[in-house]
Amino acid sequence: MKDKIWDGRFAEKTDRSVEIFTSSIEFDRRLYPYDIQGSIAHCRMLAKTGIITEDDAAALVQGLGQIKRELDRNEFIFDDGLEDIHMHIETRLVEKVGKVAFKLHTARSRNDQVALDVRMLLRDEIRHVLRWLLDIRGVLVDLAAANIDVVLPGYTHLQRAQPVLLGHYWMAYYEMFARDSERLNECLQRVNIMPLGAAALAGTTYAIDRAYTAKLLDFPRVSVNSIDTVSDRDFIIEFLASASICMVHLSRMAEELVLWSSSEFGFIALSDAFATGSSIMPQKKNPDVPELVRGKSGRVFGGLMAMLTMMKSLPLSYNRDLQEDKLALFDSIDTLKACLEIFTRMLPKVRINRKNMQAATRTGFLNATDMADYLVTKGIPFREAHNCVGQAVSYALGKDKELQDLTLDELKDFSKVIKKDIYEILSTDAMIERRNVTGGTATEQVRLAIETARRALAQEENAHTEIKF
Ligand code: ARG
Repeated sequence: MKDKIWDGRFAEKTDRSVEIFTSSIEFDRRLYPYDIQGSIAHCRMLAKTGIITEDDAAALVQGLGQIKRELDRNEFIFDDGLEDIHMHIETRLVEKVGKVAFKLHTARSRNDQVALDVRMLLRDEIRHVLRWLLDIRGVLVDLAAANIDVVLPGYTHLQRAQPVLLGHYWMAYYEMFARDSERLNECLQRVNIMPLGAAALAGTTYAIDRAYTAKLLDFPRVSVNSIDTVSDRDFIIEFLASASICMVHLSRMAEELVLWSSSEFGFIALSDAFATGSSIMPQKKNPDVPELVRGKSGRVFGGLMAMLTMMKSLPLSYNRDLQEDKLALFDSIDTLKACLEIFTRMLPKVRINRKNMQAATRTGFLNATDMADYLVTKGIPFREAHNCVGQAVSYALGKDKELQDLTLDELKDFSKVIKKDIYEILSTDAMIERRNVTGGTATEQVRLAIETARRALAQEENAHTEIKF
């Protein structure tokens, strides 16, 4: 067991159970590239401000580079007696470059250091999530365009309501993911703030140059209040809230895909490559991928709850509770990325059963509203028209027919104003095309939505490729 960097005031060795209990190396080793990059920038700033010499800085930077290579190649030896990734790297630096390594932590605390590492990691990860959100939206727009003439019943209360274009359906999910991107971009603004210099909680007595460190690490801003800086995890909560909302969207789509691929709906078939079989029932093809996406949403919500609960009674400033933030955060990042990726791969291979979708629009009185609207155009007040069509529906139900199957004479019994042109009004295509209002389901509107989305995606694509990773 190595001596600890902080054990000067301790008379007794740490109990082994405490070492195991307090250690975070199992999960925070993931921060290592950021920890090293942050330390290198910190060294350079210390040299620039004359707090350490250029020679010292050069030795430290070289040693840190060697440690990075050891970690990259999996040659680094971990020891849970060394608590966390920061202690591991610093301890190894002493082995590599000797006593000069003791200067690395000048004007810094693990409290601002860990805030820096997590912010850098999350900044990268948000950019990866944004990439997936671009891809999945691209897939949805392509699906919408490829199936522009497919109609299906739209539902409210999971009861057939009115016919819509399948493209309109896909574009509804496009909108949700567009909002997710917007939210994450805003969250990124608040993640992208440089905390070093807050030190333990009160700032530092050295004449450091925080703006210089920020520049080296590509941060547009430095944090304002040192107490807030070391205890703030709002940016994690915000990410987890955005991730949770995105998981809600994925989970809703998952639910839809599960329903639609059932024999009861028969609207879609998942490709064999994205479905699984049963170990006992040979006939089964199960939608495990959407089911797991739906299930995994709970993990991300759990992460958000864990963070909110952890933060709600923490006195200022840093408390060790905060070490637990990484578990919630890392798991949620991985879950969200995995779900976005698998859907982006699966969706283009979904087989659309357009016949079943179309057929489903013909039963269930989806045209009742349109018949009422028709009566209104003939001068009947809407409430009266509603009642009149209600009676027609009741009559048709008794005859086991749909409204469009009733004869003109039968229809006229409900209102004298009904003419032959009613049948055109009652057809699925007319119902769709007459909803030619901004945001409506008419083909023209859906095409417009697709074009607008394509332009937005192209613009975001450009902005995204400019980002340095
Ligand atoms: N492993 C700790 C964390 O993740 C690093 C900061 C520890 N600071 C301290 N004063 N014990 O939060």
